Amino acid sequence: MKNYDGYGMIAHVYDKLNSEIDYSEWADFNERLFEKYLTARPEIVLDLACGTGSMTLEMVRRGYDMIGVDGSEDMLSVAYDRWIDLCIENEEKGDGEHTLKRPLYLLQDMREFELYGTVGAVLCCLDSINYLIEDSDVERCFSCVHNYLDPDGLFVFDVNTPYKFENIYSDNAYILEDEMLDGNGGDGKRQIYCGWQNHYDRDSGICDFYLSLFEEKDGVYQRSDECQRERCHTAEKLGTMLKNNGFELLGIFGDTDMNEPKADCERYYIVARAKK
Ligand SMILES: C[S@@+](CC[C@H](N)C(=O)[O-])C[C@H]1O[C@@H](n2cnc3c(N)ncnc32)[C@H](O)[C@@H]1O
Repeated sequence: MKNYDGYGMIAHVYDKLNSEIDYSEWADFNERLFEKYLTARPEIVLDLACGTGSMTLEMVRRGYDMIGVDGSEDMLSVAYDRWIDLCIENEEKGDGEHTLKRPLYLLQDMREFELYGTVGAVLCCLDSINYLIEDSDVERCFSCVHNYLDPDGLFVFDVNTPYKFENIYSDNAYILEDEMLDGNGGDGKRQIYCGWQNHYDRDSGICDFYLSLFEEKDGVYQRSDECQRERCHTAEKLGTMLKNNGFELLGIFGDTDMNEPKADCERYYIVARAKK
Protein backbone atom coordinates (compact mmCIF):
# COMPACT_ATOMS: atom_id res chain seq x y z
CA MET A 1 0.00 0.00 0.00
CA LYS A 2 1.42 3.38 -1.04
CA ASN A 3 1.66 5.89 1.84
CA TYR A 4 -0.66 8.86 1.61
CA ASP A 5 1.29 12.05 0.86
CA GLY A 6 -1.22 14.62 -0.46
CA TYR A 7 -2.35 18.04 0.80
CA GLY A 8 1.06 19.56 1.50
CA MET A 9 1.02 22.60 -0.70
CA ILE A 10 -2.53 23.87 -0.21
CA ALA A 11 -3.06 23.16 3.51
CA HIS A 12 -2.54 26.82 4.51
CA VAL A 13 -5.11 28.08 1.97
CA TYR A 14 -7.48 25.09 2.14
CA ASP A 15 -10.05 26.83 4.37
CA LYS A 16 -10.12 29.86 2.09
CA LEU A 17 -10.75 27.65 -0.92
CA ASN A 18 -13.62 25.88 0.85
CA SER A 19 -15.08 28.90 2.61
CA GLU A 20 -18.54 28.37 1.05
CA ILE A 21 -19.10 25.14 3.01
CA ASP A 22 -21.41 25.56 5.96
CA TYR A 23 -20.02 23.19 8.59
CA SER A 24 -22.48 24.40 11.19
CA GLU A 25 -25.40 23.28 9.03
CA TRP A 26 -23.56 20.03 8.29
CA ALA A 27 -23.01 19.42 12.02
CA ASP A 28 -26.75 20.01 12.59
CA PHE A 29 -27.35 17.24 10.07
CA ASN A 30 -24.94 14.93 11.92
CA GLU A 31 -26.76 15.59 15.16
CA ARG A 32 -30.14 14.91 13.55
CA LEU A 33 -28.73 11.56 12.39
CA PHE A 34 -27.50 10.81 15.91
CA GLU A 35 -30.99 11.51 17.25
CA LYS A 36 -32.65 9.41 14.57
CA TYR A 37 -30.38 6.38 14.59
CA LEU A 38 -28.63 6.20 17.99
CA THR A 39 -30.21 5.39 21.32
CA ALA A 40 -27.93 7.87 23.11
CA ARG A 41 -25.84 10.89 22.13
CA PRO A 42 -22.32 9.62 21.35
CA GLU A 43 -19.66 10.74 23.80
CA ILE A 44 -16.62 10.22 21.61
CA VAL A 45 -16.76 10.95 17.89
CA LEU A 46 -14.05 10.34 15.30
CA ASP A 47 -13.65 12.82 12.46
CA LEU A 48 -11.87 10.65 9.91
CA ALA A 49 -9.75 12.53 7.34
CA CYS A 50 -10.45 15.60 9.47
CA GLY A 51 -8.21 17.88 7.38
CA THR A 52 -7.97 21.34 8.94
CA GLY A 53 -10.52 20.35 11.58
CA SER A 54 -13.60 22.29 10.42
CA MET A 55 -16.02 19.55 11.44
CA THR A 56 -13.91 18.50 14.44
CA LEU A 57 -14.10 21.99 15.93
CA GLU A 58 -17.79 22.40 15.07
CA MET A 59 -18.46 19.22 17.07
CA VAL A 60 -16.11 20.30 19.90
CA ARG A 61 -18.20 23.49 20.20
CA ARG A 62 -21.24 21.22 20.67
CA GLY A 63 -19.58 19.39 23.55
CA TYR A 64 -18.39 16.17 21.88
CA ASP A 65 -15.10 14.55 22.76
CA MET A 66 -13.42 14.55 19.35
CA ILE A 67 -10.65 12.57 17.72
CA GLY A 68 -9.36 13.78 14.35
CA VAL A 69 -7.38 11.46 12.11
CA ASP A 70 -5.68 12.65 8.94
CA GLY A 71 -2.77 11.55 6.79
CA SER A 72 -1.45 15.06 6.13
CA GLU A 73 0.85 16.64 8.69
CA ASP A 74 0.28 20.07 7.12
CA MET A 75 -3.51 19.82 7.36
CA LEU A 76 -3.27 18.68 11.01
CA SER A 77 -0.92 21.53 11.78
CA VAL A 78 -3.57 24.01 10.56
CA ALA A 79 -6.20 22.09 12.57
CA TYR A 80 -4.12 22.43 15.73
CA ASP A 81 -3.62 26.19 15.21
CA ARG A 82 -7.38 26.57 14.69
CA TRP A 83 -8.01 24.79 18.00
CA ILE A 84 -5.70 27.28 19.76
CA ASP A 85 -7.56 30.17 18.05
CA LEU A 86 -10.87 28.71 19.20
CA CYS A 87 -9.63 28.55 22.82
CA ILE A 88 -8.49 32.18 22.64
CA GLU A 89 -11.82 33.24 21.11
CA ASN A 90 -13.68 31.30 23.77
CA GLU A 91 -11.69 32.86 26.57
CA GLU A 92 -12.16 36.36 25.16
CA LYS A 93 -15.92 35.76 25.08
CA GLY A 94 -15.65 34.75 28.74
CA ASP A 95 -16.88 31.21 28.08
CA GLY A 96 -13.75 29.72 29.66
CA GLU A 97 -11.47 27.15 28.06
CA HIS A 98 -12.71 24.38 30.36
CA THR A 99 -16.01 24.18 28.47
CA LEU A 100 -14.23 22.94 25.33
CA LYS A 101 -12.80 19.45 25.17
CA ARG A 102 -9.42 19.40 23.48
CA PRO A 103 -9.53 17.24 20.33
CA LEU A 104 -7.02 14.47 19.94
CA TYR A 105 -5.38 14.81 16.54
CA LEU A 106 -3.67 11.71 15.13
CA LEU A 107 -1.49 11.58 12.04
CA GLN A 108 -2.59 8.30 10.51
CA ASP A 109 -3.74 6.76 7.29
CA MET A 110 -7.48 6.18 7.15
CA ARG A 111 -6.89 2.71 5.68
CA GLU A 112 -5.05 1.46 8.75
CA PHE A 113 -5.65 3.78 11.68
CA GLU A 114 -5.58 2.72 15.32
CA LEU A 115 -7.45 4.29 18.23
CA TYR A 116 -7.23 3.73 22.00
CA GLY A 117 -10.77 2.37 22.15
CA THR A 118 -14.12 2.47 20.40
CA VAL A 119 -16.23 5.53 19.57
CA GLY A 120 -19.97 6.13 19.24
CA ALA A 121 -19.84 7.65 15.75
CA VAL A 122 -17.41 8.15 12.89
CA LEU A 123 -17.79 11.11 10.53
CA CYS A 124 -15.86 11.40 7.29
CA CYS A 125 -16.67 14.64 5.45
CA LEU A 126 -16.19 16.38 2.16
CA ASP A 127 -15.54 13.52 -0.22
CA SER A 128 -12.56 12.15 1.71
CA ILE A 129 -13.67 8.60 0.81
CA ASN A 130 -13.17 9.53 -2.87
CA TYR A 131 -9.46 9.90 -2.08
CA LEU A 132 -9.32 6.13 -1.62
CA ILE A 133 -8.49 4.92 -5.10
CA GLU A 134 -8.52 1.13 -5.01
CA ASP A 135 -11.58 -0.83 -3.90
CA SER A 136 -9.28 -2.59 -1.43
CA ASP A 137 -8.42 0.85 0.10
CA VAL A 138 -12.12 1.52 0.73
CA GLU A 139 -12.61 -1.98 2.16
CA ARG A 140 -9.64 -1.51 4.51
CA CYS A 141 -10.97 1.84 5.66
CA PHE A 142 -14.50 0.48 6.27
CA SER A 143 -13.04 -2.47 8.17
CA CYS A 144 -11.04 -0.13 10.48
CA VAL A 145 -14.10 2.07 11.02
CA HIS A 146 -16.16 -0.99 11.94
CA ASN A 147 -13.44 -2.18 14.28
CA TYR A 148 -13.44 1.10 16.24
CA LEU A 149 -17.19 1.69 16.39
CA ASP A 150 -19.26 0.70 19.41
CA PRO A 151 -21.92 -1.95 18.66
CA ASP A 152 -24.65 -0.11 16.68
CA GLY A 153 -22.33 2.89 16.30
CA LEU A 154 -22.94 5.22 13.37
CA PHE A 155 -20.75 5.81 10.31
CA VAL A 156 -21.63 8.95 8.35
CA PHE A 157 -19.73 9.88 5.21
CA ASP A 158 -20.29 11.53 1.86
CA VAL A 159 -18.95 11.01 -1.64
CA ASN A 160 -19.05 12.96 -4.87
CA THR A 161 -21.60 11.40 -7.19
CA PRO A 162 -20.97 9.99 -10.68
CA TYR A 163 -22.98 12.98 -11.97
CA LYS A 164 -20.43 15.37 -10.42
CA PHE A 165 -17.42 13.50 -11.81
CA GLU A 166 -18.94 13.36 -15.28
CA ASN A 167 -20.52 16.81 -15.52
CA ILE A 168 -18.90 19.16 -13.03
CA TYR A 169 -15.32 17.91 -12.66
CA SER A 170 -15.06 16.29 -16.11
CA ASP A 171 -12.12 17.82 -18.00
CA ASN A 172 -12.97 21.33 -16.84
CA ALA A 173 -10.62 24.03 -15.60
CA TYR A 174 -11.39 26.50 -12.79
CA ILE A 175 -9.78 29.56 -11.26
CA LEU A 176 -10.48 30.70 -7.71
CA GLU A 177 -9.45 34.14 -6.62
CA ASP A 178 -9.34 35.30 -3.03
CA GLU A 179 -7.31 37.21 -0.55
CA MET A 180 -6.04 36.24 2.85
CA LEU A 181 -4.21 37.79 5.76
CA ASP A 182 -0.50 38.07 5.07
CA GLY A 183 0.34 36.28 8.33
CA ASN A 184 2.38 39.19 9.75
CA GLY A 185 -0.08 39.86 12.54
CA GLY A 186 -1.47 43.08 10.98
CA ASP A 187 -4.38 43.77 8.66
CA GLY A 188 -2.27 43.29 5.51
CA LYS A 189 -3.85 41.11 2.86
CA ARG A 190 -2.32 39.18 -0.01
CA GLN A 191 -3.94 37.91 -3.15
CA ILE A 192 -4.18 34.19 -3.91
CA TYR A 193 -5.23 32.48 -7.12
CA CYS A 194 -5.78 28.78 -7.35
CA GLY A 195 -6.24 27.23 -10.75
CA TRP A 196 -7.09 23.65 -11.37
CA GLN A 197 -7.35 21.54 -14.43
CA ASN A 198 -9.28 18.28 -14.17
CA HIS A 199 -8.86 15.15 -16.12
CA TYR A 200 -11.58 12.53 -15.69
CA ASP A 201 -11.24 9.02 -17.05
CA ARG A 202 -14.69 7.45 -17.28
CA ASP A 203 -13.39 3.87 -17.58
CA SER A 204 -11.32 3.89 -14.40
CA GLY A 205 -13.54 6.46 -12.63
CA ILE A 206 -10.36 8.35 -11.70
CA CYS A 207 -10.22 12.13 -11.76
CA ASP A 208 -6.85 13.89 -11.57
CA PHE A 209 -6.80 17.48 -10.39
CA TYR A 210 -3.75 19.52 -11.37
CA LEU A 211 -3.64 22.43 -8.96
CA SER A 212 -1.50 25.53 -9.31
CA LEU A 213 -1.42 28.05 -6.52
CA PHE A 214 -0.22 31.63 -7.08
CA GLU A 215 0.44 33.59 -3.91
CA GLU A 216 1.42 37.21 -3.81
CA LYS A 217 4.41 38.09 -1.68
CA ASP A 218 5.97 41.58 -1.77
CA GLY A 219 4.36 42.26 -5.13
CA VAL A 220 5.65 39.03 -6.68
CA TYR A 221 3.59 35.90 -7.31
CA GLN A 222 5.02 32.57 -6.20
CA ARG A 223 3.73 29.45 -7.89
CA SER A 224 3.42 25.98 -6.39
CA ASP A 225 1.84 22.88 -7.93
CA GLU A 226 0.16 19.79 -6.55
CA CYS A 227 -1.70 16.90 -8.12
CA GLN A 228 -4.64 15.28 -6.34
CA ARG A 229 -6.63 12.26 -7.32
CA GLU A 230 -10.18 11.12 -6.54
CA ARG A 231 -12.06 8.05 -7.67
CA CYS A 232 -15.76 7.83 -8.35
CA HIS A 233 -17.37 5.11 -6.19
CA THR A 234 -20.99 4.33 -6.98
CA ALA A 235 -23.60 4.13 -4.23
CA GLU A 236 -24.26 0.48 -5.15
CA LYS A 237 -20.61 -0.48 -4.78
CA LEU A 238 -20.25 1.40 -1.49
CA GLY A 239 -23.38 -0.34 -0.18
CA THR A 240 -21.86 -3.73 -0.97
CA MET A 241 -18.56 -2.81 0.65
CA LEU A 242 -20.32 -1.58 3.77
CA LYS A 243 -22.19 -4.88 3.99
CA ASN A 244 -18.96 -6.86 3.45
CA ASN A 245 -17.47 -5.08 6.45
CA GLY A 246 -20.29 -5.62 8.93
CA PHE A 247 -22.44 -2.54 8.36
CA GLU A 248 -26.15 -2.15 7.88
CA LEU A 249 -26.88 0.61 5.35
CA LEU A 250 -29.42 3.01 6.90
CA GLY A 251 -29.76 5.65 4.23
CA ILE A 252 -28.36 7.46 1.23
CA PHE A 253 -29.44 11.09 1.09
CA GLY A 254 -29.04 13.74 -1.58
CA ASP A 255 -28.66 16.64 0.83
CA THR A 256 -28.46 17.51 4.53
CA ASP A 257 -32.28 17.79 4.67
CA MET A 258 -32.33 14.02 4.15
CA ASN A 259 -34.04 14.18 0.75
CA GLU A 260 -33.72 11.36 -1.77
CA PRO A 261 -30.83 11.90 -4.21
CA LYS A 262 -31.98 13.41 -7.53
CA ALA A 263 -30.39 12.63 -10.92
CA ASP A 264 -28.25 15.80 -10.81
CA CYS A 265 -27.27 15.44 -7.16
CA GLU A 266 -23.56 16.16 -6.58
CA ARG A 267 -23.04 14.54 -3.18
CA TYR A 268 -24.39 11.40 -1.53
CA TYR A 269 -24.62 11.45 2.26
CA ILE A 270 -24.38 7.85 3.42
CA VAL A 271 -25.31 6.54 6.86
CA ALA A 272 -24.53 3.05 8.13
CA ARG A 273 -24.69 1.21 11.44
CA ALA A 274 -21.97 -1.14 12.73
CA LYS A 275 -23.52 -4.52 13.45
CA LYS A 276 -21.62 -6.48 16.12
C1 LIG B 1 -11.20 17.08 0.82
S1 LIG B 1 -10.24 16.97 2.27
C2 LIG B 1 -11.52 16.94 3.52
C3 LIG B 1 -11.00 17.36 4.86
C4 LIG B 1 -12.06 17.56 5.93
N1 LIG B 1 -12.81 16.36 6.18
C5 LIG B 1 -12.98 18.70 5.58
O1 LIG B 1 -14.21 18.54 5.70
O2 LIG B 1 -12.49 19.79 5.25
C6 LIG B 1 -9.67 15.31 2.23
C7 LIG B 1 -8.79 14.96 3.40
O3 LIG B 1 -8.52 13.56 3.33
C8 LIG B 1 -7.19 13.37 3.77
N2 LIG B 1 -6.76 12.08 3.23
C9 LIG B 1 -6.81 11.64 1.95
N3 LIG B 1 -6.37 10.39 1.86
C10 LIG B 1 -6.06 9.99 3.12
C11 LIG B 1 -5.58 8.78 3.68
N4 LIG B 1 -5.32 7.71 2.92
N5 LIG B 1 -5.41 8.72 5.02
C12 LIG B 1 -5.69 9.80 5.80
N6 LIG B 1 -6.12 10.96 5.32
C13 LIG B 1 -6.31 11.06 4.00
C14 LIG B 1 -6.43 14.56 3.22
O4 LIG B 1 -5.22 14.79 3.90
C15 LIG B 1 -7.44 15.67 3.44
O5 LIG B 1 -7.26 16.29 4.68
